[in-house]
Amino acid sequence: MCGVFGYVGTEANVGATIISALKTLEYRGYDSWGLAISTGDDLLVDKETGRINGQSREYPRSRTGIGHTRWATHGGVTPANAHPHLDRGSRIAVVHNGIIENHAALKDELQRRGHEFASETDSEVVAHLVSERLASGDTLPVAVGQVFDRLEGYNAIVVLDREEEQFAAAKTVSPLVIGTGREASTIASDAVALRGHADRLIYLEDGQLAVASAEGVVVFDRATMREVEPFSVPMGQVADDIARGDFPDFMSKEIAEQPATLRRLVDEARHECAALARAIASARRVLLIGCGTAANAALAGTYLFNDICGCEVTAVPASEFRYRSRYLDAETLVIAISQSGETLDVLEAMAEARRRGSRLAAIVNTANSSLDRMVDTRVHLRSGVEQCVLATKSYTAMLATLLMTAYELRGEGDAGAALVRRAADAMEAMTERGIARQAQAIGYRIAASQHLFAVGRGIHYPSALEAALKIKEVSYVHAEGFASGELKHGVIALIEPGTPCLVFAPDDVTRTDIISGATELRSRGGHIIGVGSQSDSIFDDFIEVPDVGEATVIAESLPGQLLGYFAAIARGNDPDRPRNLAKSVTVK
Ligand code: F6R
Repeated sequence: MCGVFGYVGTEANVGATIISALKTLEYRGYDSWGLAISTGDDLLVDKETGRINGQSREYPRSRTGIGHTRWATHGGVTPANAHPHLDRGSRIAVVHNGIIENHAALKDELQRRGHEFASETDSEVVAHLVSERLASGDTLPVAVGQVFDRLEGYNAIVVLDREEEQFAAAKTVSPLVIGTGREASTIASDAVALRGHADRLIYLEDGQLAVASAEGVVVFDRATMREVEPFSVPMGQVADDIARGDFPDFMSKEIAEQPATLRRLVDEARHECAALARAIASARRVLLIGCGTAANAALAGTYLFNDICGCEVTAVPASEFRYRSRYLDAETLVIAISQSGETLDVLEAMAEARRRGSRLAAIVNTANSSLDRMVDTRVHLRSGVEQCVLATKSYTAMLATLLMTAYELRGEGDAGAALVRRAADAMEAMTERGIARQAQAIGYRIAASQHLFAVGRGIHYPSALEAALKIKEVSYVHAEGFASGELKHGVIALIEPGTPCLVFAPDDVTRTDIISGATELRSRGGHIIGVGSQSDSIFDDFIEVPDVGEATVIAESLPGQLLGYFAAIARGNDPDRPRNLAKSVTVK
């Protein structure tokens, strides 16, 4: 869950280039950062804890360097543990993403041979191992290939060789994208960091090794060290809306973008939803998998397919998938839902499904991500780059995709598309009516609370789970979502006078029962925040969400997002970078 970047080319001010790329990658880890720049006869290293604030720094002129944003796994958050890590002679510098599972044994072996370690990280072993191989006469590619093959676990490494002015890179599962262009060869954990430097992108595969110099990039098959033709795409396919604009943070920007991203999805992705519907129709069994917010979208999908076309679909959290996958077969379709397309639990689940002969599909935001490349059928969410750690616009696009696909399956694709447009209009109308002001006032109240409970029934149960997730992960207020009918089976014991209760009470079959559940909460002193198209006398606060039929589930995501946002602001938290979280969870 770290971000790596490497540059070798004609740019003389590589320090500034690295800093700017690391800022783009900071969503992957932001507890410390570092860079190493080749100065010809030495490596200049700059490492710090905390967020990147290097705009004013002056670095020596150089054309080659690597950088890293860290999300600590092995070793505390200290400058010494920040990457890059160097060999004894400062010839090479290493940046790493992943966990080297056998690092203790490798470190032990190196220490017995006299190597001294400057950090507590698992990553540093790579620097020492590569330097040993270089000292014994191997070239950089051979040395890096051999060392990488000794690493256990899911890892991506980039090794800069100051003497040869080149870097070599290899990966297993953890993503690496190489940029090729007239002026430079670059590498990063995410293509978005290569914007402005690359004309084409090479998605490095497991089992390959890349070597980059100012002259270009060569990719080898690691087992044979024979050169191979890599999979590459034009850079133009990478979304370009990465500026924050006038918004104070990415979270508020990405929340505000939702009507536009939903409309883009309707305009561009209908044929993909239709193809996914055909894949569903030809399968005997369909599973939806995902993690976190995407798992909530998967659960919502089970209700949407049930309600719209009477079709049974099962949702399984990707991290639990392997424990209940024995019944998978060639007639099963597994649909993974993921913003990044790089979440390790999702990729592992899909690999397991493939081993069992199942068909694979994805609903994914990041085109050409590992998930995107492994499936037969896909819908791209087209939400643009989501830089806030919290999933917002990608979540509503996931819901919209599931809804449109269910309508395609029913043979009424136009109706599904029209509903998503209505959800986009509803979100705009809520914004125009001043939902932000209202959410700010309620969010401040939530910020002062210890707990919050969110409840819903039917399709609004996943909405309650998602609202609670949004609120807790960014405000750090303990928030839980429940199926309202479960309340009296235990949860209600936790309601005290003043406890905020977010109640999803839309105008549908769930209304009567949800109001009755809310009445019980209120009689225990709960402060009821109703969400729906009509108010009720038991609501202490009411957030109006227009009724847009089955697409209400999309529109009603907005209150939870805004309540979380304003509760975070009230508590002085950074909404884009909540503590302990990284955007792309590429480790277990
Ligand atoms: C919550 C959030 C996470 C992600 C989860 C899966 O706001 O962002 O729960 O939804 O880590 O990530 P993706 O969708 O990239 O697989």
